[in-house]
Amino acid sequence: MSIPIHTYDAVIVGAGLAGSAAARELQAAGKKVAVITKLHPLRSHSGAAQGGVNAAFSSEDSIELHEFDTVKGSDYLADQDVVEFMCQKAPETIRWAERMGAVFSRNENGTIAQRPFGGQSSPRACFAKDRTGLTLLQTIVEQAMRLEVEFWDEWYAADLLYENGKVYGVAAFNIANQEKVIFNAKTIMFATGGYARSFKINSNAHANTGDGLSLVARHGLPLEDMEFVQFHPSGLSGNGVLISEAARGEGGILLNSEGERFMTKYAPNAMELASRDVVARAIIQEIREGRGVGPRKDAVYIDLVHLGKEKIMERLPELRDLAITFLGLDMIKEPILISATAHYSMGGIPVNQAGNVRKNNDEYVEGFYAAGECACSSVHGANRLGANSVLEALLFGRFVGKTMISEMDSINLKVADDSDAKAMSDELDWVLTVNGKEKVTQIRDDLQNGMTDNAGVFRTEDTLRIQLADIEKLEERFKNISIKDKSKIFNTELQEAIELGHMLDYSKFIVVSALERKESRGAHFREDFPTRDDENFLKHTMAYMNKDGDIKLDTLPVTLGKHEVKARTY
Ligand code: FUM
Repeated sequence: MSIPIHTYDAVIVGAGLAGSAAARELQAAGKKVAVITKLHPLRSHSGAAQGGVNAAFSSEDSIELHEFDTVKGSDYLADQDVVEFMCQKAPETIRWAERMGAVFSRNENGTIAQRPFGGQSSPRACFAKDRTGLTLLQTIVEQAMRLEVEFWDEWYAADLLYENGKVYGVAAFNIANQEKVIFNAKTIMFATGGYARSFKINSNAHANTGDGLSLVARHGLPLEDMEFVQFHPSGLSGNGVLISEAARGEGGILLNSEGERFMTKYAPNAMELASRDVVARAIIQEIREGRGVGPRKDAVYIDLVHLGKEKIMERLPELRDLAITFLGLDMIKEPILISATAHYSMGGIPVNQAGNVRKNNDEYVEGFYAAGECACSSVHGANRLGANSVLEALLFGRFVGKTMISEMDSINLKVADDSDAKAMSDELDWVLTVNGKEKVTQIRDDLQNGMTDNAGVFRTEDTLRIQLADIEKLEERFKNISIKDKSKIFNTELQEAIELGHMLDYSKFIVVSALERKESRGAHFREDFPTRDDENFLKHTMAYMNKDGDIKLDTLPVTLGKHEVKARTY
């Protein structure tokens, strides 16, 4: 049976802030755009961003300070040309979002309210209570829909159409009934989000299984800086649900079992508002040394009681609800239990500032773009500062959309045909017919537990080698799965099997890249190499997977700039 081929000017995979902002720009320029998303657009994980979006607005702040904080926060691995671009365009991006209809919290004098976040020289996070991401997502998706962008909700992008340095489409199936379609276009953008679900305790949506990265890697294209996974200091104890950095920005303090405000030892100046990597390590260190709290002694307290009911209800209502719902603790009356949670991925699909995807260190893939968390423009280096991610998604989504508009006239459409759906069809047939003994859920649990224990906040050569060997065993077990549901209707068991294949792929990139980086920088902390080594490792990791699933490593120089590489203290 032949497979329908739909032709567009631009096809975007992912409907979060980056994908929807790009789609809006393309459609506004008269282009025909499809957005493929495995969710409803408003379920995209951008909607879970709580605390804020950075832009230097106030008279005490400046673009240069925003750049400096970002570069320092990155432990000097960020590409400074891209950081400059982001920080310069940040105020304009917030204004654009306002013009689109986003409503920010305001000061008495009518200016946009800003709160402090970790690693900031001046309060810089513009916010809408503690629902900043959701407010922005609702606004931008609504604007894209108003212009009649075609959203293909609950469609699963199963393959990237790639040949000889050129991307020309996506093969996808309808989650509702397994109908297959080929999307053919001159320009394709991936905005597929993050992939912290390979860790047991994480703040990510169930959908964040890194499919986009693995689809790219399976075609032999590189992934960059995959060893850098951010652990947010405050996830609710036991399940990792995000308690925004806004809680510390508004004045929350961290306490151990002895009632000690332990950040005085780890970051005597910035305290709870040191960068996330520093605070997350401090929390895990306190727990490891026996000063944890809670029934399992695997958490610390964040105390917000002194803020008072009025401020909590005005600034942090969502966080209060989450802690009541999941822990039965009311932050107005008592401290709540938190610990580090896998949150964000600094690495991803390597792109330049304009969003063009790298084929290797010297060449780019024609017609292929990426933005948002799945991309690595290296604006965050080894550690992202809070509230720079919503900014990145909105800003680069929008500007990469503009790149696509300007480049598409010079691209010849490669016309897709039925054979382009073969890899997708083979994968679906395999999952539906393989008749092994292994369960997808069990392999996934084993992966998540191992990644947390062996490749989490603290790593060593030994733990990483154990994890690599475990992933190789899990890959073998994955060949021997079976699923019970063989139907075509909303077959989530089939989808989870496909997603697990992606999780195994990109987790291997994380571990192999972490093994090679024999230093500690930002979120990557090697207990066997506890200091930063600029002489040997001030460079990006580029990793390529071959057809046998082996990963080969290369490096890419860091773009330095006016912010001199120095020791990082908070
Ligand atoms: O803590 C937060 O509100 C998360 C924001 C971010 O990751 O940038």
